[in-house]
Amino acid sequence: MTLLLIATLLASGLGSLSSSVSRQFHVVKEQKSWTEAQQYCREEFTDLATIDNMTEMEKVKSMIHEAGAGDAWIGLKRGEWQWSLAGRDFYRENEAEFRNWDSGYPRGGQENCLMNANGKWSDDWSTNIWTFICYDGGNSTHPYVLVTEGKNWEDAQIYCREKHTDLASVRNQAENDQIKDIIGGTAWIGLFRDAWSEWSDGSSSSFRHWNTGESNNPGVGCTQFTPSGQWNDVGCHNPSHFICYGDPKEVKSQIVRVKLQVASHVNINDPAMQQAFLQQIQQRLRESGMPAGAKLTWMRHPDGQIFKEKKETKEEGRKRRKRTEL
Ligand SMILES: *[C@@H]1O[C@H](CO)[C@@H](O)[C@H](O)[C@H]1NC(C)=O
Ligand SMILES: *[C@@H]1O[C@H](CO)[C@@H](O)[C@H](O)[C@H]1NC(C)=O
Repeated sequence: MTLLLIATLLASGLGSLSSSVSRQFHVVKEQKSWTEAQQYCREEFTDLATIDNMTEMEKVKSMIHEAGAGDAWIGLKRGEWQWSLAGRDFYRENEAEFRNWDSGYPRGGQENCLMNANGKWSDDWSTNIWTFICYDGGNSTHPYVLVTEGKNWEDAQIYCREKHTDLASVRNQAENDQIKDIIGGTAWIGLFRDAWSEWSDGSSSSFRHWNTGESNNPGVGCTQFTPSGQWNDVGCHNPSHFICYGDPKEVKSQIVRVKLQVASHVNINDPAMQQAFLQQIQQRLRESGMPAGAKLTWMRHPDGQIFKEKKETKEEGRKRRKRTEL
């Protein structure tokens, strides 16, 4: 004896299969901060736009004109401040994030850090010549070494790495006080950031298209594409239009009605059995071309049941018997 069951399946998944070689850009005319825009692009497409060359520049520029959009975020962001001495074990919780900036600092454009006579920090151009302080991990009693011969920041870093461990990190107020007393003036410490090093999608593209005089405005860290095609650096919290790239991640779903025939001793209310049915159906559909990302779920009737038993009509019974006889 067999039961004839009717059930409804919901098949859903990401409908887009990326096939295009060149990047698809999308101008979004909503006002969002850079971080909100990034979140939106990651949810709806791939990410905020990365721009690699003049072909892409022209494409985005004409899209902005067509959309009648204004300034728009792209994915380029200023790097975060970090220590030259990068070993994780060296820092306890929050110690890598300790900062002692003087008021008004850091500004923008200057990407390397000085400690001044009052123990407060300021940023400066890496090419300027200052004394500097190294850290020597091999000397437990006197780990800080002041070098009074002036060097630019990069050369100071090379010197400290060759002769000692690295340029000094400052992990807390106690160390700040200690180093301040040794320096007694102004010196490079190990804090720096890479200017405009970070694309939202992790791309290493070095393509830039700054407007004259841009890229070094004080205190700002995000990039806007302007209708003229030039880029400006702007505060990341300012709301603005933005440009995403990638194929739309449209979730498509489809309702499928299935008829199952099972032996009458099978307990169709057993969740393990229901799951097993689902997997079998899934496998069949995959074999006949359902995308790998698609997911199947049973839909429940208002009474919580998945399956409804269906009485076989005489006609259906005759057909079934005929099929099994054949
Ligand atoms: C521009 O960059 C895109 C994305 O990297 C690439 O697909 C395209 O071939 C490049 N075009 C030219 C002319 O270099
Ligand atoms: C540590 O530094 C002090 C002061 O510079 C020096 O006299 C001493 O020899 C150093 N010790 C080691 C183990 O390098």
